[in-house]
Amino acid sequence: MNDPSRDADTLAPGHGPAAPGPGLSGFSELSELSGLPGLPGTSDPRTAAGPSKAPRPPAAPAGTAPAGTDPADPSPPVLAPELPAARGPITTLLFERLVRPPHRFGLFSLPLMSFPARFAGPVLADEDVQLALFVCYELHYQGFWGVDERWEWNPSLLEVREILETRFEEGLARAVSCPPAPRPGDTRRALVELVAAAEGPDLSVFLQRQADLAQFREFVAHRSIYHLKEADPHTWGIPRLRGRSKAALVEIQMDEYGGGRPGRMHSELFRTTMRGLGMDDSYGAYLGRVPAITLAISNAMSLFGLHRRHLGALLGHLAAFEMTSSIPNACYSRGVRRLGGDEETSRFYDEHVQADAVHEQVAAHDMCGGFVAQHPSRAGDVLYGAACGLALDRLFAEHVTGSWSRGLSSLREAGTTIGP
Ligand SMILES: [Fe+2]
Ligand SMILES: [Fe+2]
Repeated sequence: MNDPSRDADTLAPGHGPAAPGPGLSGFSELSELSGLPGLPGTSDPRTAAGPSKAPRPPAAPAGTAPAGTDPADPSPPVLAPELPAARGPITTLLFERLVRPPHRFGLFSLPLMSFPARFAGPVLADEDVQLALFVCYELHYQGFWGVDERWEWNPSLLEVREILETRFEEGLARAVSCPPAPRPGDTRRALVELVAAAEGPDLSVFLQRQADLAQFREFVAHRSIYHLKEADPHTWGIPRLRGRSKAALVEIQMDEYGGGRPGRMHSELFRTTMRGLGMDDSYGAYLGRVPAITLAISNAMSLFGLHRRHLGALLGHLAAFEMTSSIPNACYSRGVRRLGGDEETSRFYDEHVQADAVHEQVAAHDMCGGFVAQHPSRAGDVLYGAACGLALDRLFAEHVTGSWSRGLSSLREAGTTIGP
């Protein structure tokens, strides 16, 4: 149901129409660039029974900095995104429930229980499953406009999430071969070898040398799902650690969160990049446009972060992330500049060239090495988490480059519903 308070040309309430990005020189033809900043709106699944019938306040127009209330803090007032359009029977029913006050509901009323055969397909590419799981997890981050905060710990919701998680874990296990557990003291070397053996299309080189601005914006739209909450999923690991591994994770996260300077938070640097590219930098602006594999990347981090039993995988995942960051980010930075981006627009990528060269050492040696020294039996978990991160990134790169090589967008078309 469309919210009549919306302008017809907005992506979602609060997402303004395209405006030239201040960080781009020589690019004013935003309208031909996949329509990204002013993407057509997706249908609003909310019902009138929702706890908040007030329209979501508008955010700053795409490509512009918001008017903050605190001059020391560039981040805008937190505006939770609206629920995206449903992508199948699970999200249709789930979203209908979430806009009502929290309540218990019978699991058998949900199609994921009624039609278990639907999970026979590749779960990592299942739009309905990945979006449902992403929305369940997002209740632990910024939540959604019009969704009661008490849903976060609602038993029925957690039961649904567990079913989705089980399928997701099975899908990961099928897609990711489990590396052999390293011997104590060999964790760093094993991680280095795992990363060195990773295969897949080199998306970063394409973005550096060949991608046009529309393609680069698509890439940024995908990445915004994680980068706008950068570091948050791995922060769940901090209270679960002790000693050297805890100190190492905190050291990394301090950088990710700007070392006490709000404007240096990596999520804020990414918002600057988005604005420089003329994109909507509001949280979740492109949630409705990214495909299942992009959601699966974030879902894996949340899965590992929110379950103490996956602590080893969480650390391995972060290590692989840091160990594969510096060189690709140098490519992204060159790509931004080739396309006319200025220093501010490329700063997020430049920052990671420097920071992650350090982070990868801290992550592999101190964080993962320290953890395995304390928990030798969990060395395999660390390697598995790293392998999951690498595999998902390979599948993502295959999706994006495959789409572009066929002349297609790597994003979902607005309004398209995928699923039975
Ligand atoms: Fe970062
Ligand atoms: Fe980092």
